[in-house]
Amino acid sequence: MDIIAKERAEVTVQIHRRTLARFVLFLLALLIIADVTVIMQSHSMALELNRQQVNKKLSLAGDFCVEAILKGDYVSVEQFLLAWAEGYDEVLQLKATAANGFLLVNYQRKQNSPHTLTATHQAVFQNQPVLTIEIVENLDALYSAQRLNALTLVGLSIVIVAIFGYLLWTTLRRTVFLPLRNEIRDHQKAQHELTLRGRELEISNKDLEAFCYSVSHDLRAPLRGIHGFSTVLNEDYNDKLDDTGRDYLRRICDGATKMSLLIDVLLELSHVSRLKLIIKEVNLSEIATDIISDLQFQDPERKVTFTLQPKLIVNGDHQLLRVALTNLFNNAWKYSRLKPQAIIIFSKETSEKGKDIYCVSDNGAGFDTQYADKLFEAFQRLHRQDEFEGTGVGLATVKRVIERHHGQVWATSTLGEGSKFYFSLG
Ligand SMILES: Nc1ncnc2c1ncn2[C@@H]1O[C@H](COP(=O)(O)OP(=O)(O)O)[C@@H](O)[C@H]1O
Ligand SMILES: [Mg+2]
Repeated sequence: MDIIAKERAEVTVQIHRRTLARFVLFLLALLIIADVTVIMQSHSMALELNRQQVNKKLSLAGDFCVEAILKGDYVSVEQFLLAWAEGYDEVLQLKATAANGFLLVNYQRKQNSPHTLTATHQAVFQNQPVLTIEIVENLDALYSAQRLNALTLVGLSIVIVAIFGYLLWTTLRRTVFLPLRNEIRDHQKAQHELTLRGRELEISNKDLEAFCYSVSHDLRAPLRGIHGFSTVLNEDYNDKLDDTGRDYLRRICDGATKMSLLIDVLLELSHVSRLKLIIKEVNLSEIATDIISDLQFQDPERKVTFTLQPKLIVNGDHQLLRVALTNLFNNAWKYSRLKPQAIIIFSKETSEKGKDIYCVSDNGAGFDTQYADKLFEAFQRLHRQDEFEGTGVGLATVKRVIERHHGQVWATSTLGEGSKFYFSLG
């Protein structure tokens, strides 16, 4: 798993966790709203019940007083009502007024309360009011019972949601988070190993490049010796050698020349691999014009039509891109030399994905496309030395340059009709 995938997995875990937290909070809010509704309803029901009970009590007490009132026995009424009020802890005040407005009882308990209920009862005899009793009742007990009920209900809801949330969390952890975490860990391990392998590979590549460089470099001096001495031998001792000796000497000279060329191209390959890139705007059209005019200058006899798209500008390393184009145009020039009128074209196309693709094409000898990939490996050649001379390192160098620009290179061809070499950058 790459870093982006790992981050995505972690974000998924976070989203799950946040969604779960939100869901649990929502559930809790819902339960608390339900609790409040239930509490309010039960409170008004309890109040109503209380009111009915008080009215019933009052009516019983009033009925009890009617007979004494009719007899004019106000003392008994007073005694009875005072005793009645004393007997009920909830009664805070009691006022009893006779029909003629005479205040028979005015009882007031010392205690006070913020929650009270006022009730009035009129005792009647033959449809005539004889006594009005008014009481104020203390509702503290009812309110504290209701408060306790409310607290229990809310507490219970919180406990239920907490248990539910915990169960949901552990299930999610077991079924989603832990497997995901394990997956992330495994991928991280794989990623780490990949990085290690990459680093090892980089080191061994660097070693190989350094080795290639020093071998090629160190071979130059003895080669110069061989070339120098065989030239001297050819010039100063030519008449002392017979034909076979001269042939051997010529072969030594040719071998040394070829080896020198090989060393040059190997050094260039190594150079291209080691050079630090300096990325800036590069005008490929200008470079191509330069290379072709050099080739034409070196080979004025050749008839070559060169067509190019102007202002092909890219971001890349000027020096390396010049090396790549030089190799591609050298090839186009070389492999089209048997055509009386060679055509070389440098153009740009746009891929389906909108990427810029550059193409060097020629109408030369072409090659068998089944080996198209092989061409980009060092020392892989599809033409005989006596047909077209070469070292087989040019396209490997091109590939290395393009790879260093994170691009791709590939080729198509029709044997005898020409080839097209494409490349893209980054
Ligand atoms: N433009 C071309 N037309 C036909 N064949 C080509 C062309 N360019 C490259 N090739 C084939 O690819 C091989 C590898 O090319 P390269 O690495 O440049 O080596 P060299 O040119 O030294 O032989 C060549 O030997 C040749 O067979
Ligand atoms: Mg070449």
